[in-house]
Amino acid sequence: LAEAGRKVDRASGGAISRVLKRGDFSGKAAETFPIVGLRRGPAERILLVGLGPKAGFGRKPYRRAVYAATQWLAKTGAANAVSWLAADGVPGIEPYYAARQAVESVNNALYRIPDRKTAKKPPVPKLTHVGLVVADADAANAERGVKDGRGISAGSALMKDLANLPANVCTPRYLADAAKTLAKEHKAVRVQVLEEPEIRRLGMGSFLSVTRGSEEPPRLIVFEYSGGRKGEAPVALVGKGITFDTGGISLKQPSGMDEMKFDMSGAASVFGSIKALATIAAPINVVGIVPTCENMPSGRATKPGDIVTSMAGKTIEVLNTDAEGRLILCDGITYSRRFKPRAVVDIATLTGACVVALGAHYCGLFSPDEKLAESLSAAGERADDRAWRLPVAEEYSELLKSNFADMANVAGREAGAITAACFLWKFTDGLKWAHLDIAGSAYLTGTHKGSTGRPVPLLVDWLLHGA
Ligand code: BES
Ligand code: MN
Ligand code: ZN
Repeated sequence: LAEAGRKVDRASGGAISRVLKRGDFSGKAAETFPIVGLRRGPAERILLVGLGPKAGFGRKPYRRAVYAATQWLAKTGAANAVSWLAADGVPGIEPYYAARQAVESVNNALYRIPDRKTAKKPPVPKLTHVGLVVADADAANAERGVKDGRGISAGSALMKDLANLPANVCTPRYLADAAKTLAKEHKAVRVQVLEEPEIRRLGMGSFLSVTRGSEEPPRLIVFEYSGGRKGEAPVALVGKGITFDTGGISLKQPSGMDEMKFDMSGAASVFGSIKALATIAAPINVVGIVPTCENMPSGRATKPGDIVTSMAGKTIEVLNTDAEGRLILCDGITYSRRFKPRAVVDIATLTGACVVALGAHYCGLFSPDEKLAESLSAAGERADDRAWRLPVAEEYSELLKSNFADMANVAGREAGAITAACFLWKFTDGLKWAHLDIAGSAYLTGTHKGSTGRPVPLLVDWLLHGA
C-alpha cells in the first residue's frame, strides 16, 4: 500500500490489510475487490482497485483503474464515490490531467449507446457523484481539470450519440436540427444552415457532385463559437459529414458496409468540440464547418470520369466516386476562408489506407506547417488521444495528375492516406492547415462496435492549450 492506501486502511480499522493478508486481492491492473459492511471509518464500503506493478504505474494503468472502478460502481447501488487513486499523484501526469482524465474515464465507462433494443434495459447506474482526493497543493489545478474534463466528456458523448445513430435516422437534415439544438443550449454558439440552392449559389460543385445520387438533401452547417474577444481571428474546424457512404457508382463491397454510418464522425467531432468549448466557456473563437450529405448510387449519381468544378474554381476529374470525402471537404475548406481563420483543421474518416497504416490507436496527422503539426501532436499526447504525423509532399501530389482536369480525385493504391491529404492540400494556399484522418480511431468494430468520441479530447486540448 502506498500513502493513500495506508490512510484509508487506518481510517477503516485495518480493513484493507486484512484482505491483503488473506491473499484475496493481488493488485493486478484493473482488478477490483469490494469490501462491504464496514463499521468504522468514513465509508461503509471500499472498492479496492489494482494499479499493477509499482514500477509501471502511470497514465495507462491509472485510466484503466478508474474505468474498471466505474464499471463496477455502475452495477451497484452506489450513488456517491470518492477516488483515492490519484491522492499520491500519478507518475508522468500533471494534477490537471490526472483529474481531467479521471472525469473522462468515469464518463466513458458510464456512456450507454442509445440503442433500439426492445428487451428491458438494465437499470440506469445510480452513480451521480464522484469525488477526487488530491494533495492540497494540487487542488486548484485538479479543479480546472475537472471542469475541462466535464466539458470534454459532454462533447465526446454528443459525438458518440450522433455517430452511433443509424443512417436512416442521422441524415443531413437530422444533423442540421442537432446543430440548431446545440446553438439553443449555449448562448455563445450560433449556427447557420445552408440548403441546396444556397450551396449551389456558392459554387460548391465538388460538394454537390457527391449528393447527386441521394434522395436526402444536403446541408452546409456553420457554427460560430464566440468565447474570445470580438474580432479575434477564429480557428476553423471542418468536419466530414457523410451520413452514409455506399461508395456511389464505385460501389463498396457489402461486408462491413454498415460501418459507413460512421462516415460523419469528423462532423460529429466538430459538434462535440463546439459543445465542449461552450460547456467550458473557453476564451477563444472557433468556427465549425460541416458539409453533410449521403453518397449513394442512382440514375442521377456522379459517374467515374465526370468533371466537376469546386468552389475554389479548380476542376476535378472524379475517377472514383468512393473518394467522396475530399470532394466535400475541399469546398468546406474554401468556405472557411471567409472567416479569415488563423488555422484550419479538417477532421475526416477519409481513407481505409490510414486504417491499414495506423490501426485504431493513433489517428493520421498531416500538415505542411511544422509548428501546427507539432502543437496538434503535443495536444494528442497530453490528452491521451494520439495522432501520428505522415508527410504531405509534392512527390505525392503529383500522383493526382489528370489528363482532363486540374486534378483527379484519386491516385493509385500506394500511399492512399497521403495522396488524399495532398488532394486537400491543393485547396489551402495561404492557410495554416492540418488534416486529421480518423478512419481508424473514430469508432471501434467487432463486439465493441461504436463511436469512441475521438478526437474531441485532442481537439479541445489543442484549442485550450496549444492553438
Ligand atoms: N469513408 C471512406 C474511408 C474509410 C474506409 C473510413 C474504411 C473508415 C473505414 C472513404 O470515403 C473511402 O471510401 N475512401 C476510399 C478511397 C479510395 C477510393 C481512394 C478508400 O479508402 O478505399
Ligand atoms: Mn468513400
Ligand atoms: Zn467516405
